[in-house]
Amino acid sequence: MNGEYKIPNHVAIILDGNGRWAKKRGLNRSLGHKAGFENLKKLSKYIFKKGVKVLSVFAFSTENFKRSKEEVDYLMKLFTNNFKQLIDHNSDVKIVFSGRKSNLSNEVLAAMHEVEEATKNHSTYLFNICLNYGGRADIIDATKQIAEDYKEGKITLEDLDEAFFQKYLYNGIPDIDLLIRTSGEIRISNFLLYQSAYAEMYFPSVFFPDFDEKQFDLALLEYTKRDRKFGGIKDDCKNN
Ligand code: FPP
Repeated sequence: MNGEYKIPNHVAIILDGNGRWAKKRGLNRSLGHKAGFENLKKLSKYIFKKGVKVLSVFAFSTENFKRSKEEVDYLMKLFTNNFKQLIDHNSDVKIVFSGRKSNLSNEVLAAMHEVEEATKNHSTYLFNICLNYGGRADIIDATKQIAEDYKEGKITLEDLDEAFFQKYLYNGIPDIDLLIRTSGEIRISNFLLYQSAYAEMYFPSVFFPDFDEKQFDLALLEYTKRDRKFGGIKDDCKNN
């Protein structure tokens, strides 16, 4: 608890609605992404300050490559030029990237590497940026690695259980407690599928650039009211 709120360990956000935010203002979609990035910079600091230990965000899905060349190029440039700004020199946040490295330019890869290197010794908080990420690809890549390790005799079939498998997923990201998708869409869209098995879901209607600190507090309030059972029975329903 933090004051009146229950604080989730792991919050995951699908950053949706940048394009519609821009359209509503008669702006180019790219400016929506820029506004989304500016919001994420502030919001991520606030979320860690609240006591959340792990924050995952969906920055770019494997499917997002299907968008126009202009939009994909803009996003890649935004990533390359701005990732550094996500480093908070006053706090102990480790930044990692989850997703396939294929299809990403050397410039984007270098920017990712720089941020990971600069924060690799930080350990209190984890900021997981999912880029060129797909939940099914995550599971497939983990399975391939497990098969290889098995073939090489590094692991046995007895080792394999749910927790063991999870450690093979990109960066061994833990279970999600609160999953938020902005903009009113009610879908997971191939985000962190394995880790969202028991996540509480929250779908505010605001577009991501408007999902500010106040909005996040509302999400926490909603999370605080939820009664998590993980498939079990609520205490006050037993024997009924
Ligand atoms: C979804 O909005 C957003 C994206 C595909 C990109 C998200 C990227 C950012 C917020 C930039 C900053 C991120 C990092 C980590 C540097 P949309 O384009 O699908 O919006 P729409 O549904 O209204 O069209």
